[in-house]
Amino acid sequence: MARRPFIAGNWKMNLDHLQAIALVQKLAWTMKDAGYDPKGVEVAVFPPFTDLRSVQTLIAADRFPLALGAQDVSPHEAGAHTGDVSAAMLAKLDARYVIIGHSERRADHREDDALVGAKVHAALQHGLVPVLCVGETAEDLERHGASAVPVGQLKAALEGVSADAELVVAYEPVWAIGSGTPATAETAQEVGAALRRALAETLGEDAAERTRILYGGSVKSGNIAGFLRMPDVDGALVGGASLDPAEFAAIARFEKHVGV
Ligand code: 13P
Repeated sequence: MARRPFIAGNWKMNLDHLQAIALVQKLAWTMKDAGYDPKGVEVAVFPPFTDLRSVQTLIAADRFPLALGAQDVSPHEAGAHTGDVSAAMLAKLDARYVIIGHSERRADHREDDALVGAKVHAALQHGLVPVLCVGETAEDLERHGASAVPVGQLKAALEGVSADAELVVAYEPVWAIGSGTPATAETAQEVGAALRRALAETLGEDAAERTRILYGGSVKSGNIAGFLRMPDVDGALVGGASLDPAEFAAIARFEKHVGV
């Protein structure tokens, strides 16, 4: 089964809603000029909560071929949870994806595997596709190698998830995020393959075969093609480089600038 490559831009806590509108317009025009074909690769943006409505309106009005995602979701349905945003609210905004378990949330907000798992359930319940982030710190890498921690995080988050659930897994080594030093394509492949085996063990072979596994951590237009050449890397979760429309569009064009 062919998995459609997925290029996802995580803006993190950057850009207010006016800046977001400007960036998405520029991105859509750049992609159009470059002959972007949504059949070949899916492109999504993940703006902060305050930008989602503006970006959604723009995408819908101008029919931009961009999917929309949020950066976090509450594990709760509704009610007395000040500051939280529910999966139902995101679904109503036509968000298709939601990032869950990003290492910055695991660190800044002490999110553990149980909370990450609860958020995955909340997202799935409302038809959102979780982009489940897993990855090891530099210390984990030294102690356990690259795969052990991400595989453990994946298995924990998937407890009780049904075999037909649609999700995306993002392997993001914590030491590679924002450091300018990405993992090698070989390491991304090794961990991607281990994550796919873990998907097969938890959700079954079909789910393992269809689920897209992304690499994230210092992805740029100059290194994307090497990752996408790997059989178990189906796309990228891009941070810093997604804030530059020309650079992000170049990443989305990975098939054109280097033969894969
Ligand atoms: P950078 O691309 O800035 O390293 O960030 C990666 C990331 O954390 C995406 O979620």
